[in-house]
Amino acid sequence: MKIVQAQGNPVDFECDGIALGLGNDWQSSLHFNAIDAAMNGILKKLIEAEELSTKPFKLTSFLLPAGIRAKQLTVVGLGPLESRDAGIGYRAAAAAAKTLAGSKNRNRIAYSGFHGDDLFLKSSVAGSITGGVGQDLFRAERSLYPPQEIHWFNVSSTTISAGTSIGESMNLARRLVNLPPNYLYPETFADEATRVAKEVGLEIEVWDQARLEAEKCGALLAVARGSVKPPRLCILKYPGKTSSKPPIALIGKGVTFDSGGLSIKPTDGMLTMKCDMAGAATVLGIMRSAALLQLDQPIIGLVGLVENLISGDAFKLGDVVTARSGKTIEIHNTDAEGRLVLADVIHVALDHKPSHLVDFATLTGACVVALGTDVVGVMSNHERWQKQVLDAARRAGEYAWPLPMYPFFSEQIAGKVADIKNVGEGRWGGAITAAKFLEEFVGQTPWTHLDIAGPAFMDAAKPWSDAGATGTMVRSIIELLSTIES
Ligand code: BES
Ligand code: MN
Ligand code: ZN
Repeated sequence: MKIVQAQGNPVDFECDGIALGLGNDWQSSLHFNAIDAAMNGILKKLIEAEELSTKPFKLTSFLLPAGIRAKQLTVVGLGPLESRDAGIGYRAAAAAAKTLAGSKNRNRIAYSGFHGDDLFLKSSVAGSITGGVGQDLFRAERSLYPPQEIHWFNVSSTTISAGTSIGESMNLARRLVNLPPNYLYPETFADEATRVAKEVGLEIEVWDQARLEAEKCGALLAVARGSVKPPRLCILKYPGKTSSKPPIALIGKGVTFDSGGLSIKPTDGMLTMKCDMAGAATVLGIMRSAALLQLDQPIIGLVGLVENLISGDAFKLGDVVTARSGKTIEIHNTDAEGRLVLADVIHVALDHKPSHLVDFATLTGACVVALGTDVVGVMSNHERWQKQVLDAARRAGEYAWPLPMYPFFSEQIAGKVADIKNVGEGRWGGAITAAKFLEEFVGQTPWTHLDIAGPAFMDAAKPWSDAGATGTMVRSIIELLSTIES
């Protein structure tokens, strides 16, 4: 995809489709007025007749509109200027892209009438890149045909290239999540990470089975034992443009398929478990984008990659495993595998003396019960760091909400024969007891845990996105890393 600045007037712009943003402030929009005048004032009449809506994400399309040179005009609502945040820009631009991508012949499209601040525009550009890309990677007859060229009117080239790096990195993360588990497993994920690192100039180290054994990553290795596919751990380094600060570490759960192990999942719950590496894909997407944006902040990304399967050698209930930190863990449920993988990856991250940690994990169904499918659960050992993450998500217009980390929750993970056990007592508060387990491994480092089990993967399509992977939290964490002071 080629994303560029558009020159001239959208009325004369020869293309297969124009997306026109329509806010409540349409009267002051130069491009709206130009297009409306060329179309004989029909848009204004339709707004006045309440046939054409300015409501966010509301779509109205005109085929072969008389008066302008585009073959299709898709009007998308942006709502009032006051409430026009980056989330509205992202979703509105993506909704228009998805509509335009519904036809094979929209190769060259343009956006105009998007008015807002820089973060709004950057997010809109990102949305124009993700909205037309769907999950039907293996279907001869696609449901979405992404455009080859996207032209943006009235957006600076700096904003376009920033938005492009974010949108394309989200698509990378989405593609990896959408890939079936027979295509994407620990080794092939590591290959993808290596390819991405080369593409954008990141340093990468890949640990194989032997190295993981030498490093005593006993918790991660316990999960991996049930699969014939060997595990991997990838460490990606972005040194920062000018800064000599310690890195911020981003950690991702990369369970390329989660059958539940011996605590096996029912078929319905297992079907979408290729999405259980979404945390790792998010980390890779953020690292790629950070490198392209040349952020000041040094960043290190670590992903733990395993398949959670069943075999004669699979880990069992009652097993005691020793994590890299030396802590012993009693296995009470092999389906609580993500926290075991993360325990060791977090411990490796601490070797690099990060100032802060953020982890991304499709960790618990309980978090989806608590917050629904659209909201990320946020848990932390450090109030200020948690607030910085939440504030960045709010600015980016992504939904994230804190869950309490009262000390008494830790009592639930006390072990009987080992230091700790890998589940709480019963299912209540399951998102929090999982986070409390992770907290056992972060030491004193400020850490924020993002449980993305709900938003990472959608069963049904939205107006702005095909079903499947979403790329959740890439925009928020890029916003966090771009604005962080110390
Ligand atoms: N990968 C799942 C969590 C999940 C559920 C992700 C739904 C996405 C959608 C995780 O490994 C898991 O199975 N968690 C268990 C934990 C339990 C055994 C304590 C769960 O949530 O049931
Ligand atoms: Mn599981
Ligand atoms: Zn899992």
